[in-house]
Amino acid sequence: MSKTLLVVGGGIEAVPGVLLAKSLGLHVVVSDIDPAAPCMELADDTLIASTYDIVATVAMARSYHEEVRRLDGVMCIATDVPLTVATVAAELGLPGIPVEAARLAADKLAMKDRFAADDIPIPWYSQVTGADHLERLVAERTTTLVLKPADSRGSRGVLRLVGDIDLEWAFAESLRHSPSNRVMVEEFLAGPQVSTESLVLDGVAHTPGFADRNYELLDAYAPHIIENGGELPSHLPEAVQASVRDLVERAANSLGITSGVVKGDIVVSGGRPHVIELAARLSGGYFCTHEIPLNTGVDLVGNAIRLAVGDPVDPSDLVPRFQRCVSQRYLFPGVGRVVSVGGQDEVGTWPGVELVEIRVDPGDTLRSVDSHPARAGVVLVTGADRQEAMTLAERAIDAIDIVMEPV
Ligand SMILES: Nc1ncnc2c1ncn2[C@@H]1O[C@H](COP(=O)(O)OP(=O)(O)OP(=O)(O)O)[C@@H](O)[C@H]1O
Ligand SMILES: [Mg+2]
Repeated sequence: MSKTLLVVGGGIEAVPGVLLAKSLGLHVVVSDIDPAAPCMELADDTLIASTYDIVATVAMARSYHEEVRRLDGVMCIATDVPLTVATVAAELGLPGIPVEAARLAADKLAMKDRFAADDIPIPWYSQVTGADHLERLVAERTTTLVLKPADSRGSRGVLRLVGDIDLEWAFAESLRHSPSNRVMVEEFLAGPQVSTESLVLDGVAHTPGFADRNYELLDAYAPHIIENGGELPSHLPEAVQASVRDLVERAANSLGITSGVVKGDIVVSGGRPHVIELAARLSGGYFCTHEIPLNTGVDLVGNAIRLAVGDPVDPSDLVPRFQRCVSQRYLFPGVGRVVSVGGQDEVGTWPGVELVEIRVDPGDTLRSVDSHPARAGVVLVTGADRQEAMTLAERAIDAIDIVMEPV
């Protein structure tokens, strides 16, 4: 009988991974609170449980495992629920990272405490207990700070404290995105930002995913920190890239992840890489499903699936086979009501355009972008060189015609 994989979360970005798991011959079960989630109709079986509700997901997975069909593995794809996944794995005796590692990875304060104890380079940070405390910290520190919820995602409530920002507002805004009501500040590290994605095997991180992130909109959307895609391969010198890879491996081991996926947010500041965050899961934003395979020929998701169901992974399959240039840009149509959306089908036929996704519909009201999920769409292209890819991505964005009206 084929092996059975539970995918926690059936959102649109998980679709390619679910299809891949099926093409590998697995029996795929998807859990989600939304019976109409995009992966549900692709799944062989579905479980209805919120991805964030660990107790409910474990209970559904257990009864499926014991009464319907034994699960061989559990994972999430482009969904940030490592603690749910690790708990299901631990409860059912499936391959997975330690629950403690997932707990650290899901809590930016606990993660930074662990990194600090293990001498992993990170920005200065502190928990913030209230707006008064924040005012004191801003007065004491000489560099720019970033305020963020200890346990949110998608850049929600992540604020760069620049200019004459109202600190009382900032504290309340960040706090409202923290399920545990905890907020922290960090020194904002200037320098190139990179995304990495690795499979850790026996404590060794194999990092085929390595992208330069584009922050050209940092000032336009201040105080929010909004990424506008990025480029692969990285333009950083090989020695710097090697130091980033080395840091990712040390950081994964610091969290207790010796076998699993890690997605790194790294800043190279003062020539030295620092960890902003290490997520214990596959990335979102089509990094793992599209950008890495297009850039390197490495099937990162397929290998992550093998790891999840306990099949052997050959490290040589994680070595980039080539370095094709990839560029990604997001769509920012502005504020107002969407009247019409056009041009995407035409753009999708252009040579080099690999993916066009529009996330807004006529009638939608768009507010100013304050987090990554609020971006209106994305294009992903390949090119003969970095400049050609960037130009094509920008042309594709310009050719998508979203007509807006004031509200
Ligand atoms: N201390 C910092 N120095 C420099 N850049 C930072 C810092 N903190 C956050 N950022 C930038 O802001 C982004 C979002 O911050 P963070 O990862 O902490 O929040 P998040 O909600 O997990 O966002 P995402 O899901 O996009 O990763 C980071 O990926 C990084 O680019
Ligand atoms: Mg992050």
